[in-house]
This record gives sequence, C-alpha cells and structure tokens, in this order.
Amino acid sequence: MAVSEMLRIVILGPQGSGKGTQAELLSFHLGLPAFTMGGMLREEVTRNGSHASEIKPYLEAGTLVPHWISIELLRKRLRAPDVVRGFICDGFPRAVEQQEAIDAIAPPTHVVVLQLSDELAVERLTGRLVSACGEVYHVKWFPPKRPGICDSCGGKLEHRTDDTPQAIRERLSIYHHETEEVIRRYEAAGLVHYIDASGTVPVVHAAILEALGLRKT
Ligand code: AP5
Repeated sequence: MAVSEMLRIVILGPQGSGKGTQAELLSFHLGLPAFTMGGMLREEVTRNGSHASEIKPYLEAGTLVPHWISIELLRKRLRAPDVVRGFICDGFPRAVEQQEAIDAIAPPTHVVVLQLSDELAVERLTGRLVSACGEVYHVKWFPPKRPGICDSCGGKLEHRTDDTPQAIRERLSIYHHETEEVIRRYEAAGLVHYIDASGTVPVVHAAILEALGLRKT
C-alpha cells in the first residue's frame, strides 16, 4: 500500500477486544490521529460539556448514547485539521444510522474487526484499570509497576464505572444485535479485515498490519 494512500480506518469489535489499545498502536505506527467515540463521550462528561447530563446515564448503563449526539461529536472531530491525511476511529459506527452518517462524511477505507469470545472480553474488562491521563492497564496482563498507581502520571488507577458485570453484559448484547449488522454491511462492501484478537497485544498489532498490507509478519 502506498504511504500516501488516504487511510480512514475504523476499528470495531466486542468490548474488551482491544480496540483502544490497537488504535493507539496503529496511530503511532502510521502517524495518523486515533480517536475513540467512548473516550470523546467520557471527556464531554468530565469537562461538563453541553451534552454531559444527557450522556452520563447511557455511559453508566453501557447503552448507546442517542445517535444525534455521537454523530454531532463525530462531525466536530472530523472538522479538525489533523484528520486531513486520514484517521483511526475506534468504536464508531455501532449502529446502521451511525454507519450511514460516517459513510456520508468520511467513508472508511478499511474496517478492522477484532474477534474475541464474550468470556475473554469479560475477563479483560473486569481486570482493566485506567488512569486519568489515559493510560490503560490490566491487573493480570499489563500490571502497573506499583499496584494501583499509574506508571506515567503517578495518579491513582481505577476501574471504569461501566466495567461492572451488568453494564458489560449490556454492551456485549448491543454489539451482537446492532454492531454486527454494521459489520455485515461493510463486509458486503468488501471493506472488512477480521483479526483474531485473542493473542498478545504485539501479535494482534502485527496481524492488523499484515491484513492492511502495511507490513509482513
Ligand atoms: P467504549 O469506551 O468504546 O467502550 P467499549 O466499546 O465497551 O470498549 P472498551 O473500551 O471497553 O474496550 P476496547 O475494545 O477498547 O478494549 P481496551 O483496548 O480498553 O464505549 C463506552 C460507552 O460509550 C458505550 O458503552 C456507550 O455508552 C458509549 N459509546 C461509545 N461509542 C458509541 C457510539 N458509537 N454510539 C453511541 N454510544 C457510544 O482493552 C480492554 C482491556 O484488555 C485493557 O485492560 C487492556 O489492557 C487489555 N487488553 C487489550 N488487548 C489485550 C490483549 N491482546 N491481551 C490481553 N489483554 C489485552
């Protein structure tokens, strides 16, 4: 693939499949910005933005925030100058209405689908620890050097408020019922690269690069 070719990569997959983790690695590898819809929504709540009170209950329950809000945030993000050469988008679109929106504004050139069993997804999420600076750890697979303390900023590590068994079940159910329909539609358009996400982080990263024709493993 020519380096100059515009890459608009969407990463989809069940909760805990490593979308955020792999989006960051791809961003570093390709020199393209990565953004996550979940992260943008959490930021809107943290900075008490205009939609904060509307978004918060959906995040806590693990259900999709209303499409008009996520589509508005997407439009805003895609107006920023850093996405002119392309982008890596994690967690959008998750429903057909969202798919129609992104296809009209900036149609993806590649859709990477991380595949992981629900059992492993739950194991990953219940062990996830996050830092206010954005670093993500796992109690078993990526523990911080000092328990409960972020290696990068020294802040306290916490579980995400939506990493409860009930919210995880809700999020997985939405994935199977709504997002898989989006994936089927992108598959019909010949855009999907399925990746086994059960391996280690570097193994999954290498498989994505290989699938996108960016590097041989
Ligand atoms: P979002 O923040 O996107 O959450 P999610 O989809 O539930 O995905 P996660 O962040 O839980 O998982 P991930 O796949 O990114 O995994 P990660 O890399 O962190 O969305 C949150 C909420 O926002 C939604 O519930 C909804 O309310 C709302 N929202 C988001 N998008 C929306 C949209 N489009 N429309 C409407 N509402 C929307 O990894 C997980 C853990 O596993 C970490 O601890 C990590 O260290 C570890 N890990 C990662 N890879 C590996 C590996 N290969 N081996 C071992 N451990 C690994």
